[in-house]
Amino acid sequence: MSAASDLRTGRATATAWADGVHGAELAARAADALRANRVGSMTRAAPDLYPHQWSWDAGFVSVGIAHLDPRRACAELDHLFSGQWRTGMLPHIVFDPHEHSYFPGPDRWACRAVTDDAPAAPRTSGICQPPVHALAVERIVALADCAGPATSSAVRAWLPSAYRRLLAWHRYLTRERDPRGTGLITVYHSWEGGMDNSPRWDGPYSRVAVALDLPPYRRRDTRLVTDPGQRPTRLEYDRYLTGLDQLRRAGYDDARLRTTAGYRTTDVLFSAVFAAASGALARIARDLGAGEVAELEEHAARFRAGVAASVDAGLGLAVDTDLRTSAPLPAQTVAGFAPLLCGGLDPAAEEAMVDLFRSERWTGHPGLRHAVLPTTSPTSPDFRPRSYWRGPSWPVVNWLFVWLLEQRGRAEVVEPLRRASLDQLAEGSLAEYYEPFTGEPLGSARQSWTAAAALDLLPG
Ligand code: SER
Repeated sequence: MSAASDLRTGRATATAWADGVHGAELAARAADALRANRVGSMTRAAPDLYPHQWSWDAGFVSVGIAHLDPRRACAELDHLFSGQWRTGMLPHIVFDPHEHSYFPGPDRWACRAVTDDAPAAPRTSGICQPPVHALAVERIVALADCAGPATSSAVRAWLPSAYRRLLAWHRYLTRERDPRGTGLITVYHSWEGGMDNSPRWDGPYSRVAVALDLPPYRRRDTRLVTDPGQRPTRLEYDRYLTGLDQLRRAGYDDARLRTTAGYRTTDVLFSAVFAAASGALARIARDLGAGEVAELEEHAARFRAGVAASVDAGLGLAVDTDLRTSAPLPAQTVAGFAPLLCGGLDPAAEEAMVDLFRSERWTGHPGLRHAVLPTTSPTSPDFRPRSYWRGPSWPVVNWLFVWLLEQRGRAEVVEPLRRASLDQLAEGSLAEYYEPFTGEPLGSARQSWTAAAALDLLPG
């Protein structure tokens, strides 16, 4: 089943999601994908390309799982928490010890060999990813409350331990990634923001000289995704690995990396997620009667303000900063809409950003198959419609906008985006990302967070 095309425009016409028939079929496919990707108490981010547990994937995936079984969602997050560092950092990958096919694997990261902050087991990577986890926990509790008293009380009994993990994670981010209180998170690798080859990072990576002694390596991703144009280039990978090796040599020590990392930038999308997640964690703290409500609300306010202050007046989008040069990094990418995720703009500025969001430069572009956000504006010279984070539309990103804009009361923006996202997902493969003009599925098939997006976007 797929959305039909309007013969005049080529644009997909809407499927009737409210009738329940199409929705039931999509929900069943999504549930099958999540079950198939499960290994013990964790879910692979994707069956072959990403055969471990990724941090922000796990946050999103746990919400999808909560639609099926809220207690399983808690186990999913507990698996991620088992990799938490002594510093509070939640690492971006928790490796499955039985799986050896992903590159770079745990030996290249060698975290425990260089710092006692990393756990001996499970083995993990040495960087982090956007902190969607408190947002996920808030949703899991809400879904558990709807699932009946036994499920609700089991999940609520789990909540205090999850809260302590999340509090340590949030305190790590404020203490180590924003020690000067700017309201913007520092990242040391583009894998931390999760949007690896986004044009946002072209400037800072152009200043990373590939190490002359970079050990030889064999990529696996381009053997699985056979069109290499859908993945980062060889030069980008050389830079990613140069960066990884440098972080490892620095013992993943934040105090050193803040001033020495060859790649260090602020990240507006990461910061906006942190602002929204701090609000969620403050609500959880209040619910539990915990003493940190004011501290968490202060984090939310500080990062909302930091993100709002990052808007470039000319572009009308929030932009990152290269911390090696202090130069702003103007780019027309989806991350520029970060203030819509967390709020903080004055009403006129927010309306201007919503107008841009709906304009022909973004979701209103007449060539789009579905009126969803691509990762780079199709009108930008940096736009590449098939290349990973340089143009394709990612269901998980559109879901994040639906989720947080809905929380912020922007139903009139949310509903068209939800319907267009579901129309995109009606195509069968639950792909990692999609070519925005043709709707061709790209990257991995049966991506776990795409399945989770389908389950959460469907009308209840
Ligand atoms: N996104 C990276 C990859 O493609 C790692 O986080 O493998």
